[in-house]
Amino acid sequence: MDEKEPVGVIGVGWVGVVTAACLAELGHEVWARDIVEEKVASLSRGEVPIHEPGLPELVAKNKDRLHFSADMAPVLEHARLLFVCVDTPPTYSGDADLSRVEAVLEELGDSNDHALVMKSTVPVGTGRSIQRRRDGLAYVANPEFLKEGSAVEDFMKPDRVVIGAEDDSARFADRVQALYAALDAPVVRTDVASAEMIKLASNAFLATKISFINEIANVSEELGADVSEVARGMGLDDRIGWKFLRAGIGYGGSCFPKDVQALKQLAGNSGYHFQLLTAVVEVNELQKRRTIGKLQKHLGSLVGKEIALLGVAFKPHTDDIREATSLVLSGRLAGEGASVRVYDPVAAAKADSMLAGARIADSAMDALDGADAAVLVTEWPEFAELDWAEVKRRMRFPLIVDGRNFLDREALIEAGFVYEGIGR
Ligand code: UDX
Repeated sequence: MDEKEPVGVIGVGWVGVVTAACLAELGHEVWARDIVEEKVASLSRGEVPIHEPGLPELVAKNKDRLHFSADMAPVLEHARLLFVCVDTPPTYSGDADLSRVEAVLEELGDSNDHALVMKSTVPVGTGRSIQRRRDGLAYVANPEFLKEGSAVEDFMKPDRVVIGAEDDSARFADRVQALYAALDAPVVRTDVASAEMIKLASNAFLATKISFINEIANVSEELGADVSEVARGMGLDDRIGWKFLRAGIGYGGSCFPKDVQALKQLAGNSGYHFQLLTAVVEVNELQKRRTIGKLQKHLGSLVGKEIALLGVAFKPHTDDIREATSLVLSGRLAGEGASVRVYDPVAAAKADSMLAGARIADSAMDALDGADAAVLVTEWPEFAELDWAEVKRRMRFPLIVDGRNFLDREALIEAGFVYEGIGR
């Protein structure tokens, strides 16, 4: 078998570009295709249209092995393994919209010359249903576990590689496994449905961990415990682990909300009520309501109040605003009659039309100037470095709701702020 097998990548959104660039870095010729011509054009010029550390460098370094096109023909001509990296966004009902996956299948026509390697997150059962309809088409489930902001590193140093295939596609699964051989990661070889479930269950579990610690935080506020101390003490237990135990105003992003909803929905469609995930979603909602409650506790009615939101991105080091808490908060605050100003070092412009009329500030200080309260939504490092004494002079009322327990509470209280964290 050719160790440096050429590969196809269909869809060069965030997952697709990272996959293409990393496979090229591993020495493979990569034939990537996207229907959006501008994206193809900018990537062909070596410009990466998304904010992801290390990615522009990787694309530049491997430009000779990376071939982008808006046309499927070169991909089908040069590669047998087709990594499907298209969007599978949620529909209104919470199910995944698989129309882009269907479009890829349509383009393949009746040909069974290629193997589909599914990177996109799809409902459990998708692979089986595709294979049932398309007899003879090889299919390998190979879910991605990339985190935004560390996607290149997550690809190159994965905790595990999951490869699901039925017997009739096993030799293609072997070829997919060979692509990852250099990465020295544990490989989980399994059936397609289990591979699909591993992806959804992993994200649902992490979201559950977050909602769990958020509930511990809420109870800690009532009982006088400090959730950061509690998480530290819990996390040292190997069976629990310290990761994903940061309490806050809830999870967002392109994966957790969608995947929790999808698994819940999938269970429901099969006649099983996934009680735990219903609660996970409710707690995530509750965290936002509690944030508004904390503002009202000190300010009373929010009508006419100037509220600064620090951070728009769903987490730091990304410009991604999908399912970002900031969007919900700015809408709710506007609904309460407040005037909202937002600042984010990279994501604000992108969010402009979705911020319910909020004013986009040029700097954190600009957002805080004259404000009645500030809510720290995204833990960008620069917010820790602010001249808080100056902020205190500029704010109309010195209320800080630290939605990520990120700021130095003692220093802020010392400086005269009214500080509200999460669970402490
Ligand atoms: C996630 C998964 O981690 C990744 O494996 C999957 O492939 C895609 O979804 P991502 O959405 O990029 O990755 O972000 P992640 O760093 O996991 O954070 C998700 C959300 O949870 C953020 O809004 C973050 O602020 C929040 N979070 C995370 C917490 O509130 N507390 C934590 O302890 C950790």
